[in-house]
Amino acid sequence: MTNPRETSPSGNARPESTPPETETGFVTTRREGRVAVITLNRPEALNAITIAMAAELARVVRALEVDDSVGCLLIRGEGRHFCAGADIKEAIPVAFPRTLTGNYLADLGTLGECRKPVVAVVSGAALGGGCELALMCDMILADETARFGLPEIRLGTMPGAGGTQRLPQAIGKARAMEMALTGRPMDAAEAQSAGLLTRIVPAGRLQDEAMALARSIAEASLPAAMAIKEAIAVTPDGLTQGLRLERRLFHALYATADRREGMEAFSEKRTAVFQHK
Ligand code: CAA
Repeated sequence: MTNPRETSPSGNARPESTPPETETGFVTTRREGRVAVITLNRPEALNAITIAMAAELARVVRALEVDDSVGCLLIRGEGRHFCAGADIKEAIPVAFPRTLTGNYLADLGTLGECRKPVVAVVSGAALGGGCELALMCDMILADETARFGLPEIRLGTMPGAGGTQRLPQAIGKARAMEMALTGRPMDAAEAQSAGLLTRIVPAGRLQDEAMALARSIAEASLPAAMAIKEAIAVTPDGLTQGLRLERRLFHALYATADRREGMEAFSEKRTAVFQHK
């Protein structure tokens, strides 16, 4: 039998042919009373998310959403980092037609559709899709090591899981533009002053404080909590359209030579040379 945690020589989670339905073992859950803790558990790749992991995360979130014994979700990353985004090495050979037919990485968005409160617990990198996952959550608790950013431009691509829509909502257009167009990350202090974080907690206390917060929410009346989330999270009419436009542009960039060059350069640990086509 195949070990679900087995990695390919490239460091990818699974061989190319593995269907997304297969459990990767890279998304784990545990329960503490009415709190469900979701852990991105692939620390050797800074919890970078493969297609199969995104599908697994989506399944987990959907199951917890309809489980009445769960009042609050908490999402964290195993190891020193929250999540370094989509798995760039897996993405290199992905071709534009496959992004369309497979609705590439659309599963990442499921967390943002969850109707129960979700707390993100962020240490280290929350970059690209990792930053976008944090942005989908209702509250972000971070320690001093946290860094938030959308570095996709450096890969010749763009955010594809809501970053272009939710970051400007969270911190305003001017700062979001700078971050997405330069790839410069914010440290925890800047993220706090920009209004991205609920609070910064010293590293040694982060998990406990996040759990205490999640527990206090989970013990409240679930219908009331869900109603409050729905009311506060009411978004401008354009969000759904914006997310769809972002995804299709994100997919379209898989047809460019620059996107492939950017991702190959990352995997070969060299600077990308873009041809602007
Ligand atoms: N995909 C695949 N592998 C990744 C990865 C990613 N997103 N991020 C890190 N890794 C791997 C590295 O390749 C490395 O593997 P090897 O040991 O086999 O070389 C391992 O994880 C450790 O990473 P580093 O050696 O790079 O660690 P570092 O401490 O020097 O740097 C970092 C940390 C700054 C976060 C750096 O890893 C980094 O820049 N990662 C990529 C971040 C990024 O560009 N994310 C966007 C992805 S695209 C996306 O998310 C699209 C979307 O919108 C959905």
